[in-house]
Amino acid sequence: MNRCLLVTGGAGFIGSNFVHYWCQHYPENRVVVLDALTYAGNRANLAKLEERENFRFVRGDICDRSLVEQLLQSENIDTIAHFAAESHVDRSILEPGAFVKTNVVGTYTLLEAFRQHWQINSKPAHYRFLHVSTDEVYGSLGPDDPAFSETTPYAPNSPYSASKAGSDHLVRAYYHTYKLPTIITNCSNNYGPYQFPEKLIPLTCINILMGKPLPVYGDGKNVRDWLYVGDHCSALDAVIHRGIPGETYNIGGNNEVENINLVRMICQLMDELAPSNLPVRPAENLITFVKDRPGHDRRYAINATKIKTQLGWTPSVTLSEGLRLTAKWYLNHHRWWQPLLSPDYQDYYQKNYIFS
Ligand code: NAD
Ligand code: TYD
Repeated sequence: MNRCLLVTGGAGFIGSNFVHYWCQHYPENRVVVLDALTYAGNRANLAKLEERENFRFVRGDICDRSLVEQLLQSENIDTIAHFAAESHVDRSILEPGAFVKTNVVGTYTLLEAFRQHWQINSKPAHYRFLHVSTDEVYGSLGPDDPAFSETTPYAPNSPYSASKAGSDHLVRAYYHTYKLPTIITNCSNNYGPYQFPEKLIPLTCINILMGKPLPVYGDGKNVRDWLYVGDHCSALDAVIHRGIPGETYNIGGNNEVENINLVRMICQLMDELAPSNLPVRPAENLITFVKDRPGHDRRYAINATKIKTQLGWTPSVTLSEGLRLTAKWYLNHHRWWQPLLSPDYQDYYQKNYIFS
């Protein structure tokens, strides 16, 4: 089927990886990106695609109903892949308002516009609204708790995860109330190329390259379940093509690691990959424990059995391979990340971290 996709947030980290993935695997499909280019959006992430006839970039806000309606109609969109969000937990603690607006009101706006578009076109069965969400909606696990499954009750703990949970509930309700063909995915922590420097893995890579302290919250024993972003994209491909409307799919890589161990792994990789030009060696000497994030979830872990058994998806990149690819990418892309360390970013950094 020749799909026509609207990718919201396509200039961000996962969205831009997804757009590259989709254009490579389905070059006959048209892809329209709608992105407001907030601090986290970067049109340069899509530079290699701008020449393609089948590709269009539109700068705009998902809360702008008339713009969304006009795009759905004029581009004859049948599939929305919805990535646009405020995505950083630490920023949601400092300033939650933008999270409610984009994540909840923005998702509602897209749902309403898509419902109208779907109804006007006589409810085609192949239309899809893919809502890309997070495992953080399930809250925090104890050390021996079973991993999150699709039936784990929601218990979000940060303004970020609460706003994503709110959007998930709206998406679910649009299927149950209107039979709008929506699907939700809840994925674990992603890493890979084009991730904004504020997140743990890029922050660690970049700070090592600059010889700056590596801030680790609390005792460093919080656990995250890491997935290489390319594997997330292949999972979303499986969901768009074979997922059942009204269903939720958990996506994860079975890679639970304590933060401190992850940071050490990156330090060792950087010592190996960039031996001559590291300001501080071994890079582990930069590790600095800082005041913990308020309400910091202790452990996340995903049970990805459903997507494996029902859609045949499994991840293909191991954590050590993925970290190596990622460390090399940041090492070779100074020109991508250096401009992102702007005065605004420094301001956020100062507000967020308490180095004792
Ligand atoms: P990101 O912050 O890197 O990118 C978000 C993108 O959305 C940016 O390009 C930004 O400009 C755009 N955007 C923000 N507000 C907008 C608005 N009002 N209108 C239009 N565009 C807007 O985020 P990411 O890490 O790529 O995450 C993408 C999605 O995946 C999010 O919905 C997030 O909740 C989800 N998710 C992320 C992870 C992760 O580890 N990063 C894991 C699971 C799920
Ligand atoms: P992050 O990349 O912000 O993702 P999330 O909070 O959405 O899981 O953080 C991953 C983990 O790393 C999380 O437990 C918080 C921790 N962390 C640090 O210890 N130091 C940091 O500077 C950052 C950004 C995160």
